[in-house]
Amino acid sequence: MKKILITGGAGFIGSHVVRRFVNKYPDYQIFNLDALTYAGNLENIKDIEDKSNYTFIKGDIVEENFINGLFSTHNFDGVLHLAAESHVDRSIEDPLAFVKTNVIGTMNLLNAAKNQWKGNYEGKRFYHISTDEVYGSLGADGLFTETTAYDPNSPYSASKASSDHFVRAYGETYGLPYVLTNCSNNYGSYHFPEKLIPLFINNIINNKPLPVYGDGNYTRDWLFVEDHAIAIDLVFHEGKNHETYNIGGFNEWKNIDLVKLLCNLMDQKLCRNAGTSLGLITYVKDRPGHDLRYAIDASKINKELGWKPSVTFEEGLAKTIDWYLDNAEWLQNVTSGAYKDYYQKQYS
Ligand code: NAD
Ligand code: DAU
Repeated sequence: MKKILITGGAGFIGSHVVRRFVNKYPDYQIFNLDALTYAGNLENIKDIEDKSNYTFIKGDIVEENFINGLFSTHNFDGVLHLAAESHVDRSIEDPLAFVKTNVIGTMNLLNAAKNQWKGNYEGKRFYHISTDEVYGSLGADGLFTETTAYDPNSPYSASKASSDHFVRAYGETYGLPYVLTNCSNNYGSYHFPEKLIPLFINNIINNKPLPVYGDGNYTRDWLFVEDHAIAIDLVFHEGKNHETYNIGGFNEWKNIDLVKLLCNLMDQKLCRNAGTSLGLITYVKDRPGHDLRYAIDASKINKELGWKPSVTFEEGLAKTIDWYLDNAEWLQNVTSGAYKDYYQKQYS
């Protein structure tokens, strides 16, 4: 039986990855390590918490001794590292928190894996999940490829870039068998409502203003989170050691166009008069250092591993909106803070 450590599995993307691995690989023992920060929510994975191949561990990747102890206790075969501080706006307020988790936390995991595996790398793999934001901003044209130079602009992307460099350095210096992926903006269920799509869905439901930063002419490349989880599964099992793969949705949207689409779809779902939610759009002060455009060239993972998104944006967005409308209690618990009680009830 393979022992797999997944970090950050109570977060947005991590919860989809944990669910997929627990359900699809009954022979794997999946350990979900998560500190349950504001972004970690065990309600995201309550459907799999009783599975016999699943264990939740509450813990902080910044704590070196704890991480070393965990590796010597369990001797993991594989690591999928998703735990991170992930929100750009928060990184502008508190950059150090991002250095601690994203850089030091990643270092602790790399060191623990290296020291535990001791050069005996047969059957071992360290998978670092990263972001397209490390490449900085595109102008009107072009796409990020795996060879685009790193040029991060926010404290978040600088911390992720730093962690990516350390992962590569451990591959080159110690031969650590790693794979690394850089993905574009995800959307879907269990997304914390501080990020654009879930925040705006929640605000439309509650008739609250939709704060569009600057002129709204910023572009992001959106990918359905379950397609990201499929790509992560594929790269973990079939990616080549010491390789990077870009993952993206081939799906660029200017923020303002996406917000208008969301308003129109939500009006239909909520049986409101057409155009009602457009009235909630409010232009606000821009994000400092706001990257103009991200867009991924995902042809390498497509050609080498056969991955491409399985749903169109129209399908993915409709599923996402339906999920938030059908899961009003999840949204209510997150916005009220009640989701934090779930750990006490389940694990204390
Ligand atoms: P998230 O903020 O929803 O979840 C992060 C999880 O990590 C939470 O459960 C949190 O409790 C946990 N965590 C935070 N600090 C920790 C620590 N010190 N120790 C242990 N656990 C800790 O993030 P997400 O959006 O799911 O992103 C997951 C990963 O994917 C991140 O590495 C992020 O950089 C990357 N990524 C995200 C996107 C996106 O669009 N969301 C796109 C590309 C890459
Ligand atoms: O590109 C991948 C990255 O995508 C991930 O690495 C990050 O973890 C993830 O948070 C996301 O970063 P963004 O900064 O692109 O996502 P966010 O949802 O915060 O913002 C999307 C766009 O919408 C961005 O141009 C800023 C804008 N925005 C965002 C919010 C929250 C607004 O105009 N208003 C808002 O209130």
